Amino acid sequence: MTDPDIIYNFFQKIRTRFPYLEKDSTGEKRIYLNSGAGSLMVDSCYRAIESAGFSLNPMPGSVAPGEILTAEFHHQVRQLVAEFIGAAAPEEISFHLSTTNALFNLAFSLRKILQKGKNCLVTDLDHFANITPWETVATEQGAEIRRVKLNDDCSLNIADLLDKVDKNTVLVAITAASNALGTILPLRELIQQIKQKSSALVAVDAVHLAPHGIIDVQDMGCDFLSFSGYKVFGPMLGILFSRKEAQSLVTPYRVETNKVVAPFCWEQGMLPNITLAGLKGALEYLLEIGREFSEKKAGWQSNRNCFRKAMEIIKIYEENLSLYFLEKLNQLKSDKIRLFGITETARVNSRVPTFAFEIKGVRASDIKKLFWKNTRILIADGNHYSAVIVRHLKKEALNRVSFAHYDNREAIDCFFQTLENILHKT
Ligand SMILES: Cc1ncc(COP(=O)(O)O)c(C=O)c1O
Repeated sequence: MTDPDIIYNFFQKIRTRFPYLEKDSTGEKRIYLNSGAGSLMVDSCYRAIESAGFSLNPMPGSVAPGEILTAEFHHQVRQLVAEFIGAAAPEEISFHLSTTNALFNLAFSLRKILQKGKNCLVTDLDHFANITPWETVATEQGAEIRRVKLNDDCSLNIADLLDKVDKNTVLVAITAASNALGTILPLRELIQQIKQKSSALVAVDAVHLAPHGIIDVQDMGCDFLSFSGYKVFGPMLGILFSRKEAQSLVTPYRVETNKVVAPFCWEQGMLPNITLAGLKGALEYLLEIGREFSEKKAGWQSNRNCFRKAMEIIKIYEENLSLYFLEKLNQLKSDKIRLFGITETARVNSRVPTFAFEIKGVRASDIKKLFWKNTRILIADGNHYSAVIVRHLKKEALNRVSFAHYDNREAIDCFFQTLENILHKT
């Protein structure tokens, strides 16, 4: 068990790796508390992008050195992603424009099983990226869409989910962590229960879990999983894991001349080399964190172990940030502010440091402006594309403040100072 002070101090030093943490691109000071919308890019991502621009060939191949290098490079990035999420092989990893795009591609590829007489579950806790693609394809193909409800406290109604799964369920689309509320779902247990009741495939949206905790697709037991590069300190792209055993069921979009085997069958057109280089740079940064905290013994420093270690340490650090945040909120003792999602400090390990809140009687868009005008703190307002949660609460919009491992207690203090001022004046 690593000493919490060592972890805290380590993450204070790491802040220098994020050039835009304390200033924006104009050089003006600001506090970025909107990592849920997109994390900041780490320096190794920028550097990798620059050097790839000088070295890679547009086209991979097997004759000229530039072609060979590019083919090897694509393989290395897939391998690194596979190690990040615990996939069995690099062929299970494909690259897409975004997670939304990956999930549309996936839903389309499963159109043959989304047929009349079958059903597909989506949840009210999910981002629309993991709802609309399924609704679109299932509706067109004649399959029934079943929507899993929320409980009053905005947790997912697990009994409703299991009730809706039956022998005709062909797909369950579910989030690993809510980008609106920060709630983490116990997917390992849930997927086991789903698979006991049906032979449904499970597609996981891991966008909001990826920067905050360990992803292990073997342990989780999902068939598909997607996440985004720009939420893990890298560039904009979507990554799809598709389990080898599920390959025979998919028919992705492809032009006639495209290869029929995974991962190539998933990818339309040439891969974005520069973007992949940035992703590699960002993942290598996580490996550095893992190496720092892993035992220096033979076998312990494998990439998979180091990724696990990095995400374990990040989770410990962020749980302490969440505790600090919740304690500060309790100290406020204001009945004007309401936090949604998990509020108990004892359950902090079931959430990531993403907090949705409202200040009663003030519009979310005005709160966002006040934070920016008063102290140049950037937070979010709106439905965060998890619009069903916002509708469930009968609101038009919610504010959201979201942290990552490069944030610290001082950033939370600044947030609360501004919040107190706003509460006094409204
Ligand atoms: C939970 C979740 N899923 C999916 C997405 C969509 O990701 P992308 O922008 O890569 O399509 C987001 C983006 O914010 C998200 O937070």
